[in-house]
Amino acid sequence: MTPDLCTRTYTITDREFELFRDLIFRQTGIHLSDRKKNLVVARLSKRLRALDLENFTEYYRFLTERPDASSELVNLVNRVTTNKTDFFRENHHFDFLRGDVLPEILENASRGGPKKLRIWSAGCSTGEEPYSIAMTVHDFFSNERGWDIKILATDLDTEVLGFAYRGVYPSQRVAPVPGPFLTKYFERTAEGYSVKRQIRDMVIFRRLDLMDAMFPLKSQVDVIFCRNVMIYFNDETKASLVGKFHRHLRNDGYLFIGHSESLMHMKDLFTFVRHTVYRKV
Ligand SMILES: C[S@@+](CC[C@H](N)C(=O)[O-])C[C@H]1O[C@@H](n2cnc3c(N)ncnc32)[C@H](O)[C@@H]1O
Repeated sequence: MTPDLCTRTYTITDREFELFRDLIFRQTGIHLSDRKKNLVVARLSKRLRALDLENFTEYYRFLTERPDASSELVNLVNRVTTNKTDFFRENHHFDFLRGDVLPEILENASRGGPKKLRIWSAGCSTGEEPYSIAMTVHDFFSNERGWDIKILATDLDTEVLGFAYRGVYPSQRVAPVPGPFLTKYFERTAEGYSVKRQIRDMVIFRRLDLMDAMFPLKSQVDVIFCRNVMIYFNDETKASLVGKFHRHLRNDGYLFIGHSESLMHMKDLFTFVRHTVYRKV
């Protein structure tokens, strides 16, 4: 690449921003306010440089008019998603999972219910959330036998899914993992810490767009984690997604959401259990 291409900077007109805002909404459900103009330029300029394009209008045409645009649409989506996450983020959720939800599921099985547990991490980003769930579940069930346990972990962003599937994290990223879990469930490698196979095998990673009308889930799940994903959606998208979660949860199943999110306006579908934890009505 010539130095000129490496350093080329871009600006976006109001009209171009409108076009990209609509396209990003259609592709991801992410709603960008007017304040996000600079963010769009910052995140997408790299793609314009890589494709050697003059401006955002050319990029929009590239994405919408070329028959082979689908792989570039994946790049666009990967650039616009916000992937911030942590191991044991909002730790009270894991305390509640361990202290209330899992004992209840064990109790149901002891009264003849199935020895089956399905948890879905929807918007799993780089994997810290589903692996935190898997470690909590593995530790809780360590003395139990005959259980069929799977954690489904989905995201729209193919780059984060690739990272999550590998399960290798630099040292600073595993700082929130409790010491005994770090020893039990990670291996030290040259790159940092690698999630052990027994935990990785519990998690199935898949690309899934939460905007899709239907989700390809084989059976209803016991618990859904969808945390810090709906904040990027508008009210209509959120309401439709919560309706779909309702259909995919078993009766009395739990929905965990992010710290700044609420389902208070959806009382007909979910009852409030505690801060950011709801239960299917
Ligand atoms: C901020 S991260 C949250 C990660 C994790 N749930 C947590 O709370 O730590 C939001 C994730 O949602 C994903 N996402 C955004 N829109 C999505 C969509 N329409 N379908 C599936 N995932 C989406 C993003 O790619 C990103 O990885």
